[in-house]
Amino acid sequence: MCDLHLERPTLSRKKDAILFVEEYFMNNENAIGSGYLDKYYHEYETWLNLLTIYENERTCPKNVSPGYTFFLIKESTNKIVGITNIRTSCKNLNVYLHGGNIGYSIRPSERKKGYGKKILKLCLNKCKEMGIDNVIIVTLDDNFASRKIIESNYGKFINAIPSSEKKGHKDLRYNIILN
Ligand SMILES: CC(C)(COP(=O)(O)OP(=O)(O)OC[C@H]1O[C@@H](n2cnc3c(N)ncnc32)[C@H](O)[C@@H]1OP(=O)(O)O)[C@@H](O)C(=O)NCCC(=O)NCCS
Repeated sequence: MCDLHLERPTLSRKKDAILFVEEYFMNNENAIGSGYLDKYYHEYETWLNLLTIYENERTCPKNVSPGYTFFLIKESTNKIVGITNIRTSCKNLNVYLHGGNIGYSIRPSERKKGYGKKILKLCLNKCKEMGIDNVIIVTLDDNFASRKIIESNYGKFINAIPSSEKKGHKDLRYNIILN
């Protein structure tokens, strides 16, 4: 499982990034944690520029949480297998309650191989490097895979609140203290 690493998106991944996001669409999904790649995949170069704007609190628009987006790369195939967005700030109340610091997803064809657990582990290493020591992670109550991923990465349950996106469901909030 040490075959995986997080990588900042670059132009050289353009072709694979488009195939990656199209795979979600074929499965009627949006790519969670993609830092808007699922909106801008047809303008990949624009998206790369947006990422640098979003990384900096001074340049990041007010309606977006500042943070970093990374591809999860499988080294043996040199393919994108997942994506994650690490929000460096949860100052926005909606993000604090319903979004948390980390959003992630694994492409549909690569699921159930342990990559979900690994992407969160790698994200936590990044959080530590970025000086985020109290990481908030939020998942829907019916997302059993994500719950297992968070709990296996030592997520401590904080509370359950009505979901902002799925009526009748709860958002489960966890935190992970890094030291
Ligand atoms: C959630 C997601 C990241 C899981 O990725 P994954 O690579 O399949 O996860 P893993 O292989 O590491 O599996 C983690 C655990 O969940 C279980 N699992 C995986 N898919 C599952 C499913 N559909 N239903 C129930 N359990 C599932 C695995 O068996 C494993 O359990 P274990 O600890 O008992 O071995 C992936 O399904 C995904 O991208 N979903 C859409 C985006 C999303 O929900 N992101 C999380 C939002 S916070």
